[in-house]
Amino acid sequence: MIELETKTKTATGTTPCRSQTGSPLTDRGPSVAQVLDSLGEASFKHDHGLRYAYVAGAMANGIASVELVEAMARGGMLGFFGAAGLGKDRVEAALNRLQASIPGLPFGVNLIHSPNESSLEDAVARMFIQRGLRLIEASAYLRLTLPVVRFRVAGIHRDAAGHIVTPNRIVAKVSRVEVATQFFSPPPAEMLNELVRTGELTAEQAALAAQIPVAQDVTAEADSAGHTDNRPLVTLLPTLLALRDRLQAKFAYAHPLRVGAAGGLSTPSGLAAAFAMGAAYVVTGSVNQACVESGSCDAVRKMLAQAEQADTAMAPAADMFEMGVKLQVLKRGTMFPMRAAKLWELYRAYPSLDAIPEADRAPLEKQFFRATLAETWASTRAFWLTRDPAQVERAERDAKHKMALVFRSYLGLSSRWANAGEPSRVMDYQVWCGPAMGAFNEWTRGTFLEKPENRLAEVLGLNLLYGAAKHLRAVALRLQGIPLSLEDTVCVPIEPDRLRELLNAKPD
Ligand SMILES: Cc1cc2nc3c(=O)[nH]c(=O)nc-3n(C[C@H](O)[C@H](O)[C@H](O)COP(=O)(O)O)c2cc1C
Repeated sequence: MIELETKTKTATGTTPCRSQTGSPLTDRGPSVAQVLDSLGEASFKHDHGLRYAYVAGAMANGIASVELVEAMARGGMLGFFGAAGLGKDRVEAALNRLQASIPGLPFGVNLIHSPNESSLEDAVARMFIQRGLRLIEASAYLRLTLPVVRFRVAGIHRDAAGHIVTPNRIVAKVSRVEVATQFFSPPPAEMLNELVRTGELTAEQAALAAQIPVAQDVTAEADSAGHTDNRPLVTLLPTLLALRDRLQAKFAYAHPLRVGAAGGLSTPSGLAAAFAMGAAYVVTGSVNQACVESGSCDAVRKMLAQAEQADTAMAPAADMFEMGVKLQVLKRGTMFPMRAAKLWELYRAYPSLDAIPEADRAPLEKQFFRATLAETWASTRAFWLTRDPAQVERAERDAKHKMALVFRSYLGLSSRWANAGEPSRVMDYQVWCGPAMGAFNEWTRGTFLEKPENRLAEVLGLNLLYGAAKHLRAVALRLQGIPLSLEDTVCVPIEPDRLRELLNAKPD
């Protein structure tokens, strides 16, 4: 953990500033460290107990590991554990560990919408309430569900001063205005009525819940790793900021709504742009998978370190395969995007596994599954019998569903092989990744952060923030007509010791 102490202001409110190399920059304006501390919405940092408005988004299958979440918390930032794709017991074990290892520090866990496994979403959300988890990142929602609303309103009450208190908070990640609108609105009346009917809320609590947004914080997720609508951040963020203003005016919430930015953020100027546009906080993803704390493996970290910006592709998603939903993955060094696309093509073309012609079946059995389709169904069936037997019952009645489950088994295993570093399956690795990775590699080329073993999540986050602050400060000075040298404006990654020195430096 890097202990940070930023410069304090002098009596005149200004401090002499130095460039990253220590040469005098100018004696006007705040220092880079002061700018850094002021990035993002102060209330976001206050409400979540953060030093920095910087969030490491959830990454499924524990890729956003407990170690990653701990590192972010200790560095004054926020991390969400990657619960998606894991069974309830694994998620609960991670929550137990976080509650014990970083008591009092900020962290959250992902609650992912699972249209194919609504019982799992329900069970995980109930477990969160029972275990006293206070913060979730809600994602992949197309419309609100009872589990996510139940989490938000659990324990709602008025304090002695009459203010509404909501112990549970949601940071909702969306890429569409319709979904953002639902999260920024009060919970639907029919859901609150249902919770009153089941005795989970009193009528008084339901009346309070009708006065709060489902989520005070909504992240605008632009072109990112994994599930994405591939929207540009420069168009999505202003749209959601305008929505925030409309809905804040409409509902007059006591605690104003906030919008964060995600997708493609992996360089100082990228973060600077998001903050300059009005993001309350920034969320990174792709670059954190490349960090030593991530739940991925060294082989994948090396692949990610070689990625360039165009080395990604859209491929069918395991969790919403039948709906034709796609997600963004790495295409350099793996055949996964092509193989997954083939499975989608066959699923569209044929009514059942038996109907697939021999010419297509042979490569499936030899290369994809390395087993006959009958054997693959047997192992898939065994998996679903323990996880959700209703899926097996349906598949045995519905040949198309059986085909979907078999194909989804490849899509699910391919990301597990990647996380585990299964050497015989390198060509099948499914690695969620966005263009942010290539931009980050480009920025860090030739520096200590080029090496996968030096990529520590906290060091990355602080470097991005420091660089963003330097960038914004330079822009502000230039706008005042102050001439700056290249050295004063270029943001290169700074080694942890030097960064600590810069951030702890006392004003001259
Ligand atoms: C490997 C990986 C897995 C991800 N899994 C999830 C997930 O399970 N739930 C979620 O809300 N977001 C997930 N994301 C998205 C990130 O939380 C984050 O919003 C996104 O990566 C930001 O965009 P970027 O990749 O351009 O940095 C994942 C991202 C990556 C890289």
